[in-house]
Amino acid sequence: MQVSFIVLAAGQGTRMNSDLPKVLHPLASAPLLHHALTAGQSLDPTHIVVVTGHGAEAVAKATRNFDDGVSCVVQEPQLGTAHAVAQAAPLLGDVAGEAIVLYADTPFIRPETLNAMLEARARHAVVVLGFHAKEPGRYGRLIAEGETLARITEWKDATEVERAITLCNSGVVCAEAKTLFSLIAEVGNANAAGEYYLTDIVEIARRRGLSAGVVLCDEAETLGINTRSQLAEAEAAFQARARAEALENGVTLTAPETVFFALDTHVGRDALIGPNVIFGPGVTVESGAEIKGFCHLEGCHISRGATVGPFARLRPGAELAEDVHVGNFVEIKNAILDEGVKVGHLSYIGDADVGEGTNIGAGTVTCNYDGVMKHRTRIGRHAFIGSDTMLVAPVVIGDGAMTGSGSVITEDVPAAAVALARARQVNKPDLATRLFERLRAVKASKHKDS
Ligand code: UD1
Ligand code: CA
Repeated sequence: MQVSFIVLAAGQGTRMNSDLPKVLHPLASAPLLHHALTAGQSLDPTHIVVVTGHGAEAVAKATRNFDDGVSCVVQEPQLGTAHAVAQAAPLLGDVAGEAIVLYADTPFIRPETLNAMLEARARHAVVVLGFHAKEPGRYGRLIAEGETLARITEWKDATEVERAITLCNSGVVCAEAKTLFSLIAEVGNANAAGEYYLTDIVEIARRRGLSAGVVLCDEAETLGINTRSQLAEAEAAFQARARAEALENGVTLTAPETVFFALDTHVGRDALIGPNVIFGPGVTVESGAEIKGFCHLEGCHISRGATVGPFARLRPGAELAEDVHVGNFVEIKNAILDEGVKVGHLSYIGDADVGEGTNIGAGTVTCNYDGVMKHRTRIGRHAFIGSDTMLVAPVVIGDGAMTGSGSVITEDVPAAAVALARARQVNKPDLATRLFERLRAVKASKHKDS
């Protein structure tokens, strides 16, 4: 079945009290907008159109970061939800198949729910996603009999009797694209808000002899973000669900409540995640890898059998092959560590390639930045980098080579060679004793003076 999405994202979000457009506030390390886009994307749609308004440029940029296939249309001024959907007509008016309207500030709609709406389209021309609200507040009310919907009344326009109804409108609507735009063309703005209400399409459809229906979902699924407090609530809800899913999928979390996932985190079966691990965007952890406590991971890939941490930081472009070991207080950025590489302690490996089986000693630093440009360090297979080696990039260390501890390596090291780049050691017999005596005498004389 062909389906397209229209994602409404033009609103200002006044109650966030923010310079940032509401839909760009982060939820699970992704812009709020990406959550609705992810739900839509999972149905393999032919088109996704985002309706932007406030902060249009920034919102468009965030949609491109999600997928360049997503189009944006600008709604200016914002005259209501029907007016917002109408902006997509030039792009979707002639598109075959179904159209589903989503809200960019409603992050938790599940793909299963969207599929249930598409199925309900076999019975109804217009399908609305509804829910039973604990506190119906100012939600639009669904005037329905069983699955059949007569109309939707906005709170502002509702009578006391209608306001007592607890079946509410989530805002998500599904219809054949052609039908949707034709219904919207008929929506007026003679209501309490003076807005073009998307909700009016139900009554218009019924007048045309088309049928309208309700699909129900859980209230938690339609949680909309209007305030920072709701954003924090949503974060907690997301994390609770992500932790439960990870456990369900066979991931061990020693202290689930202390682990934070991102929208796009992938963790394989039998991976082990210790306490206080934070996943930023773009992390994949393969089956059987272990992330010990207090690690920060972002934009990285950790293969089977690798161990990371405790207290490690993997930044974008960190690629750990199978059985790599990254230990405590190690930072890896934009670097490929081949199979079995060990970086045990206190190191910075940035803009580097490290060959299979190489051991990187404690305190090693790839000096990748000259103050203006970044440079790459290439280390071969089965090399041994001595503790406290400074690798001043660009530099190449050959296969099976060694560097002496404390070396500052500025020139390439051939395969199988040892590079020593430090001052030669000199021992002065008995000098320490004489120095101690002299210093103690100085201290004693000072003591007498004061
Ligand atoms: C809307 C529904 C209401 C439903 C509620 C669920 C209408 C008329 N009412 O009310 O029945 O219970 O959502 O949350 O549809 N937007 C635009 N352009 C506009 C107006 C809105 O893009 O001109 C976007 C907003 O950014 C927001 C969404 O559409 O993401 C909903 O708009 P909002 O003004 O919050 O509608 P509600 O009054 O909450
Ligand atoms: Ca709203």
